[in-house]
Amino acid sequence: MELLFSKWVSAFLLCCWLIFSVGHSVEGLHGNARVRAVNLGGWLVVEGWIKPSLFDDIPNGDMLDGTQVQLKSVTLQKYISAQNGGGMNVYVDRDNPLEWETFKLWRISESIFQFRTSEGQFLTCSGDGDSVTATAESPSYSETFYLERNFNNRVHIKLKSGTYIQASNDNVLTADFPGTPGWDDNPATFEMTFVAKLQGDYQLANGYGHNKAKDVLKKHRNSFITVDDFDFLYRRGINTVRIPVGWWIASDSNPPAPFIGGSLEALDNAFSWAQAYNVKCIIDLHAAPGSQNGMEHSASRDGTVNWQTYPEHIAQTLDAIEFLASRYAVHPALLGIELLNEPSAADVSLDILVPFYKQGYQIVRKYSSTAYVIFCQRIGNADPFELYQANIGSSNTVVDLHYYNLFDRYFDKLTSSENIQFLYKNRQSQIQALNSANGPLVFVGEWVNEWNVTNGSLADYQDFGRVQLDVYNAASFGWSYWTLKCEKKHWDFEWSIQNNYLQLQPGTSPRKMIPRVILLLGLACIWSFMH
Ligand SMILES: *[C@@H]1O[C@H](CO)[C@@H](O)[C@H](O)[C@H]1NC(C)=O
Ligand SMILES: *[C@@H]1O[C@H](CO)[C@@H](O)[C@H](O)[C@H]1NC(C)=O
Repeated sequence: MELLFSKWVSAFLLCCWLIFSVGHSVEGLHGNARVRAVNLGGWLVVEGWIKPSLFDDIPNGDMLDGTQVQLKSVTLQKYISAQNGGGMNVYVDRDNPLEWETFKLWRISESIFQFRTSEGQFLTCSGDGDSVTATAESPSYSETFYLERNFNNRVHIKLKSGTYIQASNDNVLTADFPGTPGWDDNPATFEMTFVAKLQGDYQLANGYGHNKAKDVLKKHRNSFITVDDFDFLYRRGINTVRIPVGWWIASDSNPPAPFIGGSLEALDNAFSWAQAYNVKCIIDLHAAPGSQNGMEHSASRDGTVNWQTYPEHIAQTLDAIEFLASRYAVHPALLGIELLNEPSAADVSLDILVPFYKQGYQIVRKYSSTAYVIFCQRIGNADPFELYQANIGSSNTVVDLHYYNLFDRYFDKLTSSENIQFLYKNRQSQIQALNSANGPLVFVGEWVNEWNVTNGSLADYQDFGRVQLDVYNAASFGWSYWTLKCEKKHWDFEWSIQNNYLQLQPGTSPRKMIPRVILLLGLACIWSFMH
């Protein structure tokens, strides 16, 4: 009997030991650790909402590339409309502005613009006396307009010849206003409404112009993230940073216009600081040529997504991966390379994405047999499981999931406890399912302790943060908070930690360890008693 009991105890102890020692761990991190990372968002890929002041000194700074405007004739009280959204005639005949009445700016200078329709054509006018149509597929001389702006967002539009465009009584736009209009109600005066804006690297660089942009970005890259931030992260038990970069980093000494070199030196610095503090780096290709999601953080010019449309974009992206892999593969701080951030499911099909991921994987493997190769899930209507079925690479692969209880109407009206339930019901079960799927490790590469609950209390935020950490800690590769610094306080990791809105637990979650250790010690006592 006694012998049998002690056998059971031994078996139990063996199980406990196995529970502790088996399970995923990430190669390259100390101990049995998983990734506990913070994103360095808004640093080497600019996002205006993260640091609005970067855009402060641009003249006519609310009229940047990709800004969406609507124009209403003050005499007709109708909006300019591209029939069918472009490719046809233009009328001034709409009462309610929707897509056809919305134009994206391409900025040539602070007062010279081109107007792109929702279907992608440009407004065009061949010369004096001609009417405006929306038939040009690409912009040049006839698609270029000169804007004059009054303080109350009234504008005049003229051709290079000096002739002003007016809204005629038969509801077309023609370049035949006689003389120079005043700012009163006349057919050459339009009211401009802003509908949306983009503030990424394209907008910043093209808005300031090369020389000024170079100064602004140099200052930003040298000051937004410094060695002190790595000290901060290290002290909080953060073991990795995920660093968004733009594709132009691969030709850093002379990147294609309007992009500005210098991000490579900053990335080099990040690697040195990381090494000094025993932190690892994940390089994340956040902005790809042509834009893979239309967002400012993909450095899109106007929200159009055409990364997938041109094979040369994909080739350039692979070149960027090759450049990064060849440069950093041997660096002791490199943990992994993420091939493409947030491709949009609506635009980028799996038929394009999977072969790209496979090629990217092979390229990284040419330079490193151990660096993790990270595949980001498609955003929008896509199930990350699609990347588990795709069989992209054989070793050290990771799928990156981005978890925000935001940006989807579903979350708009949730209470704090409904938000927390969602984490348990949806996020946790997805992580568990993917953890046990055969294939890549699971990485929650972006999440934030923010929601669409108004007036959440400090305790509400602490609960939300604690449950998120609890759920994401189970991801087999780990997690990464978005983002280290941000104008919006709840997005700002440093602020959230310093103000106690987000409470990190040390590495192996002592709250869970202590009962297990006590149990083990107890069992060990019983066992030794019986011998
Ligand atoms: C928050 O909810 C409001 C509606 O209540 C919505 O308009 C807004 O877009 C939501 N914000 C985000 C970031 O999802
Ligand atoms: C919520 O916060 C807003 C400002 O942030 C404040 O005006 C409002 O009174 C608050 N509502 C409640 C119920 O506390």
